Amino acid sequence: MRYEKITVDTSIGPVGAVIGGVDLSHELSEQVIQEIHHAWLQHHVVFFRNQPLSPQQQADFSACFGELDVYPFMQPVDGHPNVIPIIKEASAKLNFGGAWHTDTSYKQLPPKATVLYALEVPEKGGDTLFADATFAYESLSMGLRACLEGLTGIYSAKMVHGIDGGYNQVAAKKGLGKAYGGSAEFAELEVEHPLIRTHAETGRKSIYCSKPHTHRIKGWTREESLALFGFLTQHLTQQTFVTRFKWAPGSLAMWDNRCVFHHALNDYQGKRRHMNRVIVKGEKPV
Ligand code: SIN
Repeated sequence: MRYEKITVDTSIGPVGAVIGGVDLSHELSEQVIQEIHHAWLQHHVVFFRNQPLSPQQQADFSACFGELDVYPFMQPVDGHPNVIPIIKEASAKLNFGGAWHTDTSYKQLPPKATVLYALEVPEKGGDTLFADATFAYESLSMGLRACLEGLTGIYSAKMVHGIDGGYNQVAAKKGLGKAYGGSAEFAELEVEHPLIRTHAETGRKSIYCSKPHTHRIKGWTREESLALFGFLTQHLTQQTFVTRFKWAPGSLAMWDNRCVFHHALNDYQGKRRHMNRVIVKGEKPV
C-alpha cells in the first residue's frame, strides 16, 4: 500500500513503526483508518507521539479497529467501562505486565489489539519492550516448527491472578478486580489454544504460548512444559526481534496480540507511571 494520509517510520527497531501526520483526537476518515490498519498488520505494533487524548477519545480511536472488550481483573476508569488505568505508584514494587506475554491469552477469545496510552511516565525507565513472534517463529528450524504445530497449550490466568498469583495479592489488598467478574476463582479457569497460532488476517504463524499465561502443554507435565516455554521465550526475546519503546506523556501504542509479545520494564522504583489501556475483541486462536 502507498501511504497517502500518514507517514510510517520503521527505523525504531526490528518490530513496529512510528506513525505520523495524524491527530487521533478527531474522527478519522476511512482512508486514514485503512492506512493505520495496514501499517499495524505489516509492522505488528504502531506508535504515535504527542496525542492529547481523553479516555473517551482513546476508546473512540480503538473502536475504529473492532468491538471493544472488557478486562476482567481491573476496575475501569469511571464512566469508561473499556478503559482501565494501569498505575504504578511511587511506593509500589510490582508493576503490571512485567514479564513477556501477549494480553489475556487465557480467555476463550483473547483480544486482537491493545491500545496503551501514556499519561504520566518517569523521566528514566518504564519503557516497554516488544518482540516479533512471527519472525521468531519463522526463524526456528523446520523440525522444531513441525513439532510445535501439533501442540495444544492449557492457558490460564491462575499464575498471575489466581489464588496464589502475584498480582492477585496486590489486587486483594486494594480491593480491585471484583466488579467485573475478575475473582481469583475465575482466574483458575483453563482454556485450550494452540502453542503456535495462525493470524486471522495475514495467515502467518507466530509463537503464542507464554510463561505467565500458559500453564502447561496438553499431555505434558508443567515442569516439562516450562522447559520448552523457557527456550521459546529466550529465542523470542533475542535483540534481533525486539524493539524498545520510550514513552512520553501523550504517546500511544497499538499492538497486535496475535503476533507480538511485550514486557513492561520495572526499572523506575520510587517514581509514578500512569497509563490507560483499551483492548479490542479478537477471535478464537487457531
Ligand atoms: C500491559 O502489559 O498491557 C502493560 C504494558 C505497559 O504498561 O507498558
